[in-house]
Amino acid sequence: MTSDSRTRKGKTEGYDGLVARLDTARGAARAAIEQAGSAAALEEVRVRFLGRSGELTQVLRGLGQVDAALRPELGRIANEVRAGVEGHLTARGLRLDAVELSRRLEAERVDITLPGTTPRRGTYHPVSLAMADVERVFTSMGFEVAEGPDIETDWYNFQALNMPRDHPARDMQASFYFTADVVLRTQTSPVQIRYMRANTPALPVKIIAPGRVYRCDDDATHSPVFHQVEGLVVDRGITMGDLKGVLDVFARELFGPTTRTRFRPSYFPFTEPSAEVDVSCTICGGSGCRTCKNSGWIEILGAGLVHPQVLRNGGYDPEVVSGFAFGLGIERVAMLRYGIADIRLLYGGDVRFLRQFRPAGEGRAQA
Ligand code: PHE
Repeated sequence: MTSDSRTRKGKTEGYDGLVARLDTARGAARAAIEQAGSAAALEEVRVRFLGRSGELTQVLRGLGQVDAALRPELGRIANEVRAGVEGHLTARGLRLDAVELSRRLEAERVDITLPGTTPRRGTYHPVSLAMADVERVFTSMGFEVAEGPDIETDWYNFQALNMPRDHPARDMQASFYFTADVVLRTQTSPVQIRYMRANTPALPVKIIAPGRVYRCDDDATHSPVFHQVEGLVVDRGITMGDLKGVLDVFARELFGPTTRTRFRPSYFPFTEPSAEVDVSCTICGGSGCRTCKNSGWIEILGAGLVHPQVLRNGGYDPEVVSGFAFGLGIERVAMLRYGIADIRLLYGGDVRFLRQFRPAGEGRAQA
């Protein structure tokens, strides 16, 4: 429609014609509003009727051509129609919003009555549990926890512990070497040297050193990676009696109040005298069973009084101080505590096995 034709139409229409057009526009607008199915469609309807070149606007423009006397009445009707259309638009808009909201609520509904997926709780590895138990017992006796590197020099791992390159005791600790001088530590004993050198001349030295150790070993009772806890006490007047007293308390705390210890003479290059320490069998109590091979005793650690040369290598004067040291295998402790027959179960990663272990006091009781 051109503006010419509009003007011409306006001129010829007069009052009645405009009223009829307003009425038609009102009806058309109402129908279009009801049909609009979305906010966008509703906006199109608004523009079509109320926009600058919308139908109602055009009718209003025609007002100028009508008799001045009739104009106010026509204006009133036109405004009423306009207000009615606007009201309709608003009402329809609200209804469309409500429809859209309930559609989204329906589509995005979460059924909170469905049973949830409970994440399965993890458990501690038996070696971690045994390690935590051992640390708890020693720290309660005033030991400090020290650490050293897994990758060691030959000097710290062997030489400073009285094991020169050609020493036959090295055969018992077949090792993983990076170079002739760098090795995966075969024992936690190098931490003795590291700690003493870092702390001399402080007294007393009273530490445990837990950690991984590595040896070329692999069978039902040996794993190429395993864990030890080293113990070291250095002070004036330390004797074998102190060692025996500490280990007695340790054995009773860890394996129960009736547990006894037994010292057998042994040899380690870095202790003199040296001993292997047994505990009375945790299964049969000492009367003899399969676990203790009918001996009533189970070996759990190596120990002794720190060799004077080792004290010297650590920066302490063996004329002034003495000390004891021990080394405990943690896998051994875990196997005894939990009745595990094959060390390889500990490193098989089978969750059916691992799920059985919980920290003491949590969930079901442990052996
Ligand atoms: N380091 C020894 C081993 O691994 C154990 C040990 C530690 C013995 C301290 C005596 C003193 O066999």
